[in-house]
Amino acid sequence: MCGICCIVTLCSQHAIHDFFNEDILCCLRRRGPDSSQQLIKTVSDLSYECLFSGHVLHLRGLMTPQPLEDANNNVFLWNGEIFNGVHVGDLENDTAVMFHRLALCSSEADILSLFSSLRGPWSFIYYQASRHSLWFGRDYFGRRSLLWQSNNEVGGAFCLTSVGVYSEPGKQWQEVPASGIFKIDLKACATTKSLSLMLFPWKHSCTEKAVEEIFIEVLDQVSKDLPNHVPLMMNESKLCLRAPVIPLNKTIAEVSGECPGTNINNVTHMVSVETLQRFLAEECKKTTVHQFIDVLNEAVKRRVLSLFRDEDQKTRLVPSTSNTKAHIAVLFSGGIDSMVIAALADKHVPVGEPIDLLNVAFLIKEQAKQKRTSKEHANQEVQLDLLCPQESCKDLDAKTVAHLSCFAVPDRITGRAGLKELEAINPSRTWNFVEINVTRDELKKMRQQRIKHLIYPLDTVLDDSIGCAIWFASRGEGFINNQGELKPYKSPAKVVLTGIGADEQLAGYSRHRVCFKKYGLEGLNKELEMELDRISSRNLGRDDRIIGDHGKEARFPFLDEDVISFLNSLPISEKADLTLPRGIGEKLILRLAAKELGLTASTILPKRAVQFGSRIAKLESNSEKASDTCSRLKLLSVDE
Ligand SMILES: *[C@@H]1O[C@H](CO)[C@@H](O)[C@H](O)[C@H]1NC(C)=O
Ligand SMILES: *[C@@H]1O[C@H](CO)[C@@H](O)[C@H](O)[C@H]1NC(C)=O
Ligand SMILES: *[C@@H]1O[C@H](CO)[C@@H](O)[C@H](O)[C@H]1NC(C)=O
Ligand SMILES: *[C@@H]1O[C@H](CO)[C@@H](O)[C@H](O)[C@H]1NC(C)=O
Ligand SMILES: *[C@@H]1O[C@H](CO)[C@@H](O)[C@H](O)[C@H]1NC(C)=O
Repeated sequence: MCGICCIVTLCSQHAIHDFFNEDILCCLRRRGPDSSQQLIKTVSDLSYECLFSGHVLHLRGLMTPQPLEDANNNVFLWNGEIFNGVHVGDLENDTAVMFHRLALCSSEADILSLFSSLRGPWSFIYYQASRHSLWFGRDYFGRRSLLWQSNNEVGGAFCLTSVGVYSEPGKQWQEVPASGIFKIDLKACATTKSLSLMLFPWKHSCTEKAVEEIFIEVLDQVSKDLPNHVPLMMNESKLCLRAPVIPLNKTIAEVSGECPGTNINNVTHMVSVETLQRFLAEECKKTTVHQFIDVLNEAVKRRVLSLFRDEDQKTRLVPSTSNTKAHIAVLFSGGIDSMVIAALADKHVPVGEPIDLLNVAFLIKEQAKQKRTSKEHANQEVQLDLLCPQESCKDLDAKTVAHLSCFAVPDRITGRAGLKELEAINPSRTWNFVEINVTRDELKKMRQQRIKHLIYPLDTVLDDSIGCAIWFASRGEGFINNQGELKPYKSPAKVVLTGIGADEQLAGYSRHRVCFKKYGLEGLNKELEMELDRISSRNLGRDDRIIGDHGKEARFPFLDEDVISFLNSLPISEKADLTLPRGIGEKLILRLAAKELGLTASTILPKRAVQFGSRIAKLESNSEKASDTCSRLKLLSVDE
């Protein structure tokens, strides 16, 4: 995870430094603590100027300070991770490899083809000196953050940055839409003294839609997120990027099909491990489940191994808890998503290396002045079901959702139970179950100091809840149980695995049940497709900013291109069966995979938020809705 930033001025009277905010610099440095550098390109005959600022978190290969510049004056900033598609050797750094490949490109089509071939998360800024072009963008799913801002006054600046700071109206940042790659023709813009953008959108190679149709859709979408008054164009020769995944298979399979999804008529609709076992007794079901395990396992492996480890640790075979440190942490709720990821990580993390399981809980002390109908809820501990936090809100009566009621799981019991299952699967692994307890005061303090800037420009109650929870969880500061004694612990792991993407693809949210009841499988297909389409703007930019703030990198196995393509190839009936009860029907294929991996009770855990939702609803009398703008994220917030 790195922090990248670029500021462009067209014939400005101000020094370009004046546009570079000290607070943003500080946020960028937190993302990239290992190296910070700056570079200014002044092209005086064309009267434009660019400032590049690069902040590196060193994870692989040799440390490569950014921005990179080559002999032809090209400049490159990279916040990404190449997991596949372009070869990066063990000792190479992907930044240098990408820059080199870019410099070899002789046309726009070449550049698009290079980015189309990448597998892994990225955002980048590339200055192509010979053509006076500035290229930038985010990967297909928007797994890395990039914000833009344009100050349209004469002499103003256009800015790009991984992270902004909450700022006054009129100077607002917006997320760069993950709709394609953008290009600014600096020469043309300097001549007209006004900014305009060229967009090269993503397109599925086998889509039935005409390019014109895609262009209109994308223009419509992106125009909403454009900085003020900046015109957007597309190339008249219809150049596009190739999407890195196949489109969703919306076939509604016949029940009599070769591999029927829902024909276990005699399932005694019970939520039990035996029910899963019966599905697995079907040969072709089992085959699909194992294909899924294989592809997810590869995704986890890439994310666990693409990381610098010192040699003696790699070759040490005997576990020794005292002097090895964890490199991998999992945002851990004990739910099915995090359990499967932890179990697969265990297969690839070197034997002697601990794995950190980060489990967050908020301790909310009831304020005496608040009215309560009952005192019994005082001092409730509220824990977040971290990997499906949206669910918590969705399942609550919207009127009673209050800011912390989204963290709607009252106990740590499932996390601890999950730990027991993992210990049973691999007793020789050191599993550090990190209990992260957060008090209301600390929450208030850190929200104002840091978290609100990272959530920005998103601003809802839901963003606040999830953002705060993930910030504290990924910070990894808590306590571990050391032979019965709680010991302070700070997770040193630079890579944090999260389960995001499982619910969106496998119909895990309760709104999916509602949708299925109302509109059937067709409606459900549409909903799932839409949710994956908007995951960049709803979640991923925010989560990248939040986790990156600790100098750590978020990695998302369920959003690996191969995993998504595999799941997209399956008809919905193979992935979920919402005619079955909660705890079985949603994310069915993942539950079956978990069973095959040797997990037990966690395979049939329903959304815990649902069970506890009503209790929470009683706890908080606040009448916020999850989608409301959150007042606590405002500049002069007095409360919370
Ligand atoms: C980054 O990797 C390239 C090879 O890909 C290497 O030539 C270069 O020296 C590396 N950068 C640094 C700063 O070590
Ligand atoms: C559109 O793409 C073609 C082919 O790469 C290129 O020749 C042309 O200059 C581009 N048009 C604009 C306006 O950039
Ligand atoms: C359904 O399954 C139960 C338990 O396996 C079995 O006893 C029963 O005969 C089955 N019924 C039918 C109609 O197959
Ligand atoms: C954190 O909360 C858990 C659950 O309530 C409790 O058992 C534990 O003692 C707390 N840890 C610390 C260090 O206070
Ligand atoms: C979609 O699913 C159907 C039913 O399993 C299958 O026959 C078809 O080949 C799939 N299509 C694609 C593109 O994978």
